[in-house]
Amino acid sequence: MGNFLSGKVVAVTGAGRGIGRAVALAAAAEGAKVVVNDYGVSIEGGEPSSEVAEAVVKEIVAAGGTATAVADDVSTMAGGQRIVDTALAEYGRIDGVVCVAGILRERMLFNMSEEEWDPVVATHLKGTFTVFRAAAAVMRKQKSGTLIGFTSGNHQGSVAQANYASAKGGIISLVRSAALGLHKYGVTANAVAPVARTRMSANVPMELTEIGEPEDVAALVVYLLGDGARADGVTGQVYTVAGPKIAVWAQPRELRSVRADDFPSEPDGGRPGPDGGRWWTPERVAEVIAGPGGIGVDPMPMLAQLEEMARAAGAGERPNE
Ligand SMILES: NC(=O)c1ccc[n+]([C@@H]2O[C@H](COP(=O)([O-])OP(=O)(O)OC[C@H]3O[C@@H](n4cnc5c(N)ncnc54)[C@H](O)[C@@H]3O)[C@@H](O)[C@H]2O)c1
Repeated sequence: MGNFLSGKVVAVTGAGRGIGRAVALAAAAEGAKVVVNDYGVSIEGGEPSSEVAEAVVKEIVAAGGTATAVADDVSTMAGGQRIVDTALAEYGRIDGVVCVAGILRERMLFNMSEEEWDPVVATHLKGTFTVFRAAAAVMRKQKSGTLIGFTSGNHQGSVAQANYASAKGGIISLVRSAALGLHKYGVTANAVAPVARTRMSANVPMELTEIGEPEDVAALVVYLLGDGARADGVTGQVYTVAGPKIAVWAQPRELRSVRADDFPSEPDGGRPGPDGGRWWTPERVAEVIAGPGGIGVDPMPMLAQLEEMARAAGAGERPNE
């Protein structure tokens, strides 16, 4: 056993399987006492069972570590609170929470039902909020702590998972809000966008993507949970780990801008401004977006990928040829 997290208490949601399980095992192996949360559901979120969380606790204990199971649903406020309360009751503190729990209900947007939208957003986005909320109240007082959310490369958009992609985008904004709001209390917040072989990624064509194992993701999470990451000033970040590759995502920022009073063209015949009552007309907006010297568009990388895939499929090529 290492001691990267020695003396720390960490709660991991969705820790019964896949990436969450690897994170729980790795955190325990590095000396953390671990609350193992898992609702034990199918990939679509049905048929709950407490067995998967308990099985991981047994694994940790058998390896000489310390852990306790909570089989609650993270999409409820009571579930999120119970995870944090269990850490406090069993081990007296909470130093890190890692929100990994997730489900999938895939459907094209034009066919997606409320029953496909709500539980996916509730599990991922609200399920991160419920645990962050409960943990942040304690961490604020103790003036230290680490919050980790799980997002996905799909926060950029997804053909058949608008529910999942929306939740994953929301998690990034939640993480950045937590990083800003808790900075003065010494609490950090980061997001991880993993690519790893699990039941959830089983339908992703492997030849299309660089993929690794849950243990690769766990190593990144253990680093983020450690004092080193806080000393290194790591907060408000999104990291991808995909096997041998680790990447940091850019912060969203304005790419180009133009000011009405600087733009040379005056298609509506007068210099616009507050004196004239308005800065913009639709014609002038068209000019500054699409006209010469305008701000233009920032092309979507995933749209380009999609077009390339459609072209390759049309030409009968195999992926990566
Ligand atoms: N595997 C990948 O390549 C990949 C890619 C991008 C993002 N992710 C994200 O990483 C996370 C882990 O994914 P995984 O591949 O390990 O999936 P997984 O299906 O193997 O594990 C998810 C776990 O979450 C649990 N869970 C579901 N709903 C819950 C709830 N309401 N309360 C508590 N637990 C609940 C499930 O029982 C399951 O054990 C997810 O958030 C997923 O969206 C994974």
